[in-house]
Amino acid sequence: MQLRVENPLTRLTLAELRTRTSMKWRTYPDDVLPLWVAEMDVPTPEPVAEALAAAVRRGDTGYPIGDAYALALGEFAQKRWGWDGVTPERSAIVPDVMLGVVEMLKLVTGPGAPVVVNSPVYPPFYDFVGHMDREVVEAPLGADGRIDFDALEGAFQGLAEQGRRGAYLLCNPQNPTGVVHTPQELERVAGLSAEYGMRVVADEIHAPLVASWARFTPYLSVPGAEDGLSLMSASKGWNLAGLKAALALAGPASAAELARMPEEVGHGPSHLGVIAHVAALRDGGPWLDALLAGLDANRALLADLLAAHLPGVTWQPGPGTYLQWLDCRALNLLDDPAEVFLERGHVAVNSGIPFGTGGEGRVRINIATSPQILTEALERMGAAVGRN
Ligand SMILES: Cc1ncc(COP(=O)(O)O)c(C=O)c1O
Repeated sequence: MQLRVENPLTRLTLAELRTRTSMKWRTYPDDVLPLWVAEMDVPTPEPVAEALAAAVRRGDTGYPIGDAYALALGEFAQKRWGWDGVTPERSAIVPDVMLGVVEMLKLVTGPGAPVVVNSPVYPPFYDFVGHMDREVVEAPLGADGRIDFDALEGAFQGLAEQGRRGAYLLCNPQNPTGVVHTPQELERVAGLSAEYGMRVVADEIHAPLVASWARFTPYLSVPGAEDGLSLMSASKGWNLAGLKAALALAGPASAAELARMPEEVGHGPSHLGVIAHVAALRDGGPWLDALLAGLDANRALLADLLAAHLPGVTWQPGPGTYLQWLDCRALNLLDDPAEVFLERGHVAVNSGIPFGTGGEGRVRINIATSPQILTEALERMGAAVGRN
């Protein structure tokens, strides 16, 4: 019998969190409540802490080797998503998801090639892709935050007319809208991409965080996605970004390409990272369930808090992650409400602008925190715009 795990989001006090030295807690002064970067205000899951402590006790701090990550993710994928597509033969460890994205794009595109993204999207999609000498082309999401297939086909067609082929960097689930793409949408993505000679690389880092009332579909599981590539990781689901590791996955028709990934890329992940991620995937299920229940409670709380303190803000609860996308345009705070919330309210949320087209007037808020902190943040944000 599994022991019930307490809500991880209610375990740490603000004073305890302020002792942290990571980006979320050290970027802004102590009078600012940080609800921005994708770190969670949770203790390290017990199975992960134990696995790390045991490794340190053994002096097991060398280089990673073996299939443990692929096997653990394979079991997790089978159990959670009913998908048996993760195999050691069609996977490779990479240092983290973004470096994995870069390596996958190098495998399937050449310098100068276009990489289509659905804006608004995770800002490093622009930074990393631009930095590697590829050109980001936007196919904005629809007003409902879902893939707009006319825009997507328009982008593919425009490139085809210039004789250009490249890649489509899909975010599944979508950061920042929290939209979880359906099997039908993913099948359409695969079909359109094949038609226009675009290779799909799917960033699926938020997959374990999908709420119980939605259903995550791995891109590689849909018909037509056989030549796709995907990046998965335990990093977001169990808050392990500081323990570097991730897994690149290939479909049957892209396995040979993945096998060509340079060996040195696999030297980037940390052995302790792999140990932590494996422990999370194998033994962190009850912890994850408790977290997902806590996030659901925070979504409900956010709805109440928005109604009370920021009634002009519109929000479509996103089941795909703990990051939520708030449309603040009705508050008339010009393009960047995040600046107002920070300066007048001392709350750090992400500005929507770096997320690309569709980001103006929006902010992204991280609800992976305690109900107390979330409540105080929304009270401060309301006061910042003259409510309360
Ligand atoms: C969509 C997406 N991809 C990648 C990352 C970063 O992952 P990693 O630290 O493994 O590069 C994040 C972090 O928030 C993310 O939201």
